[in-house]
Amino acid sequence: MGKNIAVIFGGTSSEYSVSLQSAASVLENFPKKYNAVPIWITRKGKWFHFWGSIDNIRADKLERCEKAVLSPDRTSKCLITKTENITISAAFPVMHGMGGEDGTLQGLIELAGIPLCGCGTLSSAICMDKFRAHKLVSTADIAVPAGRVFSMRDKIDTAEIELEIGFPAYVKPLRGGSSCGISRVVNADELISAVKKAFEFDSEIIIEQEIKGVEVGCAVMGNNDLITGEVDEIKIEDGFFDYTEKYTPKTSQILCPAPVAADISNQIKQTAKTIYKTLGCKGFARVDMFLDENGNIIFNEVNTIPGFTEHSRFPSMMKAAGYTFSQVVEMIIEGATNE
Ligand SMILES: Nc1ncnc2c1ncn2[C@@H]1O[C@H](COP(=O)(O)OP(=O)(O)O)[C@@H](O)[C@H]1O
Ligand SMILES: [Mg+2]
Repeated sequence: MGKNIAVIFGGTSSEYSVSLQSAASVLENFPKKYNAVPIWITRKGKWFHFWGSIDNIRADKLERCEKAVLSPDRTSKCLITKTENITISAAFPVMHGMGGEDGTLQGLIELAGIPLCGCGTLSSAICMDKFRAHKLVSTADIAVPAGRVFSMRDKIDTAEIELEIGFPAYVKPLRGGSSCGISRVVNADELISAVKKAFEFDSEIIIEQEIKGVEVGCAVMGNNDLITGEVDEIKIEDGFFDYTEKYTPKTSQILCPAPVAADISNQIKQTAKTIYKTLGCKGFARVDMFLDENGNIIFNEVNTIPGFTEHSRFPSMMKAAGYTFSQVVEMIIEGATNE
């Protein structure tokens, strides 16, 4: 029997369904030398050890399962259920958003002394925070959009926003994902309702200058010696890359490799690596940037657990660079167990 690797999915964030799809693909492509121990966290936050079919993960049908908890006791390193204690050699959270990608789950895994696949507590938390991630990345001389952060108690002066940020602007929950709660606003009138909507998702929001250009992304993997996937580009006919376009594209298309000159693509890869290092990332992450109308690379965000279905951007970028889905999963697990 190979080592037991906990694959944790679901969770209480608005990206629960996306996580189920990602986890199903990861489990379907799981390297034969390891033994996957699927852990399903419900929308309410209940933990289950799951041994049902991958199809039922896709269909959100929780069956063949038993309540389970991951022990924080460093001497046990195991998943505890009523019937057994399962020793865990590494944990791979395949979860998006709060409570899975934001450092909290990573903290539990680190506390338990279990090798963690992907970014640790601190970098996960920083990457989740769109404003603080920008502040840190700008110290590495990488451009970021002008932005301001507001908590619910702050007064938002629309005239000030118009002056400092300008319109169109993006209003986003500070720690969101999948474009949930994000609006593009073109004037001060639209700002009020956009702010209200963003606050439904988080207690802090960011208002950001619109970058005119295209969105590009780059998969980065590794701990010290980094490798990258091919750069991709999001081609959008209309509007922005919102939830609908991400999961049921109508006017958008992902071009991988991106149709840019080789030197630009190399520059994007180098910038992605610098961003990854600056934010203390490990294992794997997808670095999203803009390539503006003047050819400048501007940081947008790092997804420390990017979408992981077979059609998702991260695996596609790695595939374009010559790595199969299963090799990518193996590299991620090895990155944790060989640390
Ligand atoms: N400053 C910006 N300029 C232009 N487009 C933006 C900006 N911020 C966000 N967007 C658009 O909104 C989408 C979602 O924003 P993003 O910050 O990536 O949030 P999420 O974490 O939900 O993916 C982006 O993919 C892009 O289409
Ligand atoms: Mg994004």
